[in-house]
Amino acid sequence: MEDNKVIISKHPLIKHKISILRDTRTGTNEFRRLCDEIGVLLGFEALRDLPIAEHEIETPMCSMKAPFLTGKKLAIVPVLRAGLGMVNGMLTLVPSAKIGHVGLYRDHETLEPKEYYCKLPESIAERLVIIIDPMLATGGSACAAVDFIKQRGGTQIKFVCIIAAPEGVKRLQEEHPDIEIYIGMLDDHLNEDGYIVPGLGDAGDRIFGTK
Ligand code: PRP
Ligand code: URA
Repeated sequence: MEDNKVIISKHPLIKHKISILRDTRTGTNEFRRLCDEIGVLLGFEALRDLPIAEHEIETPMCSMKAPFLTGKKLAIVPVLRAGLGMVNGMLTLVPSAKIGHVGLYRDHETLEPKEYYCKLPESIAERLVIIIDPMLATGGSACAAVDFIKQRGGTQIKFVCIIAAPEGVKRLQEEHPDIEIYIGMLDDHLNEDGYIVPGLGDAGDRIFGTK
């Protein structure tokens, strides 16, 4: 499954935190905190190729050419609702990133995504756009989110999720081979209702305490 555009984390901290996330005994408060923390760890991976440039500085010991971020414009785009649960984690890394929102829900009969909201930061074409959503299941929502961003001019796009099903990764790769996909853990399969198995259930409901 792994190729140079599909990056599945091998980090034990991520694996450990996802195991707690999955557990039915994990309540809303802890679930939210873990989504934040996993957002930081996955965001760290996804931002690993931010451009840097060297500038001369003085340390107490000597002068040196030191690497600094060039200030590449960023847009973090959570897929509503559940993607909101990873926003704070991403902002811990890049506090000045702009935030866009794509509102999608899955029709429970067809499993196809329905759009209800899309608001992106200006000059989206110049930005590195990081779409965040805890779950990549059939891939319908992820593909629709990428479509919206491309229709509005986005060209540099990455997708970050906590848990993915092989079916969703395949669809996203096939429909959008240009984007990098960062995954916390790759699960086994989708069930007949389109839920990831073993998964963690409905991410939105677990983050927001709804049912
Ligand atoms: C969940 C999840 C993804 C989508 C993944 O959202 O957050 O957006 O399902 O499924 P897919 O890959 O089959 O499209 P959901 O539609 O449950 O909406 P919610 O976040 O508002 O609960
Ligand atoms: N959306 C979720 O929240 N969970 C799944 O397992 C699949 C889609």
